[in-house]
Amino acid sequence: MSAPLIVLVGPMGSGKSTVGELLAGRLGVAFRDTDADIVAAEGREISDIFVEDGEDHFRDLERAAVRSALAEHGGVLALGGGAILDEGTRELLTGLPVAYLSMDVEEAVKRVGLNTARPLLAVNPRRQWRELMDARRPLYNEVARVVVATDDRTPEEVAQAVLDAL
Ligand code: S3P
Repeated sequence: MSAPLIVLVGPMGSGKSTVGELLAGRLGVAFRDTDADIVAAEGREISDIFVEDGEDHFRDLERAAVRSALAEHGGVLALGGGAILDEGTRELLTGLPVAYLSMDVEEAVKRVGLNTARPLLAVNPRRQWRELMDARRPLYNEVARVVVATDDRTPEEVAQAVLDAL
């Protein structure tokens, strides 16, 4: 059991998985993603969990997934974009090397837009993105040791910036 070397948080589309894989490769460690852990444990897609059991239930599953991943995994760990909404999950991140991959609203609309596989963006993506970012930005900042802007950077540049900053 060892603490993760790097934890990535940030909105969907900020590149947590791509950058996480790159970082893990650079550091020679494993990459883990709590969304994937939840899908594997539940045997269903996240969008189905949202529809069938609601967001609160998903956040409970997510908190449990973050707790186990932090206890078991010593590599690079990416969290789902909304994980920081849960106070218990935020507490689990206290003192850890957390990097917030930030992205502005226009970039989010461009990258993710109206992607129906993402359950939280059903209509009016620009307005929803603005509301979602306004609500979440302070929480990302609260848990983050470093903030890395992703807007004008390639995943390789973001990975390097994370390594330089942490
Ligand atoms: C969510 C982001 C998703 C996933 C779920 C909810 C969110 O993760 O956990 O759809 O609330 O922003 P990614 O950020 O990996 O897409």
